[in-house]
Amino acid sequence: MKNKFRSVCMGVSLLLTASPALQAQNKITFHTDAPTQTINRNIYGHFAEHLGNCIYGGFYVGDTSRIPNIKGVRKDIIAALKALKIPNLRWPGGCFADTYHWKDGIGPKEKRPTIVNTWWGGVTENNSFGTHDFLDMCEELGTEPYLAGNVGSGTVQELADWVQYVNFSGKSPMSDLRQHNGRQQPWKVQYWGVGNEAWGCGGNMRPEYYADIYRKYATFMSGNLFKIASGANSSDYNWTEVLMKNIPLHMLDGLALHHYSVIDWNKKGSAVDFSEEQYFRTMRSACFMDTLVRRHSAIMDKYDPKKKVALVVDEWGGWYNVEAGTNPGFLFQQNTMRDAMIAGVTLNIFHNHSDRVRMANLAQTVNVLQAVVLTKGEQLILTPTYHVMEMYKVHQDATLIPIDVQSNKYTYKNEQLPAVSASASKDKSGVTHISLVNIDASKAQEITVQTGAAYKSVAGRILSSAKLQDHNSFTQPDKLRPVAFKGAVLKNNTLTVKLPPFSVVVLELQ
Ligand code: AHR
Repeated sequence: MKNKFRSVCMGVSLLLTASPALQAQNKITFHTDAPTQTINRNIYGHFAEHLGNCIYGGFYVGDTSRIPNIKGVRKDIIAALKALKIPNLRWPGGCFADTYHWKDGIGPKEKRPTIVNTWWGGVTENNSFGTHDFLDMCEELGTEPYLAGNVGSGTVQELADWVQYVNFSGKSPMSDLRQHNGRQQPWKVQYWGVGNEAWGCGGNMRPEYYADIYRKYATFMSGNLFKIASGANSSDYNWTEVLMKNIPLHMLDGLALHHYSVIDWNKKGSAVDFSEEQYFRTMRSACFMDTLVRRHSAIMDKYDPKKKVALVVDEWGGWYNVEAGTNPGFLFQQNTMRDAMIAGVTLNIFHNHSDRVRMANLAQTVNVLQAVVLTKGEQLILTPTYHVMEMYKVHQDATLIPIDVQSNKYTYKNEQLPAVSASASKDKSGVTHISLVNIDASKAQEITVQTGAAYKSVAGRILSSAKLQDHNSFTQPDKLRPVAFKGAVLKNNTLTVKLPPFSVVVLELQ
């Protein structure tokens, strides 16, 4: 039903084909009478892999560290993520998940075996952060754990045992072991990934083979679990088709999708020192998420018209070259206003497709790829992406207001993207929020919003900066942060908003 309305970022177009109509003024219309759906808070999930300094040196500093911590997890990270209201956290990978043997990470830390983290830098993993550490941390954060099981190099028994270890309340070999290790009550983990990137680092499988493997693993994962199949790499629509065709709906709760906003896998470019051309190409890749979601959803609709199975975009975000001088296997990159644009646009896409996209995980939470938090010794900084997710959190579990967006084009050379991206929702107390993004690198956008209802007040915040390359650093941690927005005027049922170039605004209408 929602496809009746035009949405954000409907793809790139060539300037030569543009018609005068495409140059019309930005206009957004609320469809308050249309059927509505909930924006599942799980869209705001995060991802923490044993990769670089995400876990070790990021979240986890150990309980003997002088950095204030709770059971070895940094208190400042816990506070920052609590403020974001993160609904779920995916762990332990990524590619690492298919090399991870969970029994290595339980029991006395000094007795835990070491392994080599073959995917990420070839460093020695001492398993000091394991199942108890992660699940206790999730309790502290007030977030749902999402465990990614090892299918690539594990066994069905190993994964079935992990489920029993963390979830079973009765007497069993695994619950006895858990209690022996100090945890009486199970954690009751609901979200389980059955492998990761089975088409690549998870085993280089064909979809037909993985569909059978999935069925086998899922059969022995007992309890009322939300099981997520390893999904397509970006536009591999055949992967989705084969899985939907071959996995019975009653065995499947979520189907994953991974898509990174990347310029070119062989020439990713610097995270901070980039040209407008590189910016445009990154945004083209970010906007492509809309096409991906539509096309994967259309395939899912054929096999699952009632939309029982969620599309779970459990890896998304910008991916650039690692920062000079850092370990190439650690994927450390800075985070600029470009990343704020990716976050704003992508979350708007997820909202507007929240009938099917019901869970997602930004890659990755701390010190890796498009992180929300960066750390250096005792210091912690919040990135522009953090600020966007914090501004947008008002949409979690709110009711989507379908909108029609007519946008001016952001033109670079002979290519164009819609300049304006938007989404709107009404929260449980009846307050309406609208998120607006102008990705144009140089032009402000004036937007007329027909709200269809008589609101009395408008207020909100903006994240913007002088340069696209601007970012927070350990010497200037608050260079970028949201401030009160003065550019919105409400008159009768019409809201007029003036968005500066490359800015994100969230408004509250009452
Ligand atoms: O997020 C980094 C890596 O990207 C993950 O480990 C993998 O799943 C993906 O290819």
